[in-house]
Amino acid sequence: MPLPRVLSGIQPTADSFHLGNYLGALKQWVALQDDHDAFYCVVDLHAITVEQDPATLRRRTLVSAAQLLALGVDPDRSALFVQSHVPEHAQLGWVLQCMTGFGEASRMTQFKDKSQRQGTTGTSVGLFTYPVLQAADILLYQAQRVPVGEDQRQHLELTRDLATRFNNRFGPTFTLPEAYIPPGAAKVLDLQMPDKKMSKSLPPAGCVNLLDDPKVTAKKIRSAVTDTGREVVADPAGKPGVTNLLTIHAALSGQTVPQLEEHFAGRGYGDLKKELAEVVTDALAPVQARTAELLADTAELERVLAAGAARAREVAAPTLAAVYDRVGF
Ligand code: ADP
Ligand code: NA
Repeated sequence: MPLPRVLSGIQPTADSFHLGNYLGALKQWVALQDDHDAFYCVVDLHAITVEQDPATLRRRTLVSAAQLLALGVDPDRSALFVQSHVPEHAQLGWVLQCMTGFGEASRMTQFKDKSQRQGTTGTSVGLFTYPVLQAADILLYQAQRVPVGEDQRQHLELTRDLATRFNNRFGPTFTLPEAYIPPGAAKVLDLQMPDKKMSKSLPPAGCVNLLDDPKVTAKKIRSAVTDTGREVVADPAGKPGVTNLLTIHAALSGQTVPQLEEHFAGRGYGDLKKELAEVVTDALAPVQARTAELLADTAELERVLAAGAARAREVAAPTLAAVYDRVGF
């Protein structure tokens, strides 16, 4: 039996991923490799839907790929590639745009949020059709499973609708992908505003970046907003800050939250923060070292990405050829 195929992508929009990206998504990318045929891409085409600086984008694409390898994406088992290296993404994206209703695209709620945040140059048409390119990313590989958070569910539904529409009109061409919630994905909250998701878009004090200096990380954790009371117990409604720290600890140390509650019984928030700072910096040290090594001489990284793109094209090119033939090209 061939392994189920999984496709996932991440935007190169920061110089470092953060703990939320890692514990909510990238850790699962690594685990999925054991029982999936995985295609993972750094989606740089998506990154230009908002204004970008060319040198920054180029740097962030490499830094993102280096971090993925450092976290454990294994290029011998998974295709790791950069989206713009595989021209079939843009090509299929165009065909699918021509099959998407304007009203249908207008219903995407993420566009409504994101377009409101666009400043000087205004909102691009690319930001509007972004979910259609995302559909192409998935359908090119005939992916059966797509790990998705709540915010991406609507886009996956659009992908399934487009695949069904194409298949009905032109004959069976695309696999219908399923949303897949990988076991063990954690939602990480901002350390300063534990009612919000940790995000690169919020002030840096609440966001632990994987490549932060250990001293900076320790300081961010020490300064985390905790809750009234003294007991270290998980209570998402009453103690969101402390619960978040326990969630991060558990995800990195492999202990369960009840085990941690027992471990911290009779001790206070200060002890939790002190130990968590060590757990986090110890977990990140090898990731930082490997990332630095890969970026010190990018020849190996570029070779890995070229091989990943070649592997991706082995699957993407036949899909696109079938699509072109069926639409009449
Ligand atoms: P950000 O919110 O920092 O802009 P992205 O939207 O680029 O992050 O998310 C990239 C991936 O990381 C997605 O799969 C997303 O679901 C996941 N992710 C982002 N933030 C968190 C978080 N705080 N907790 C869990 N997963 C997260
Ligand atoms: Na985001």
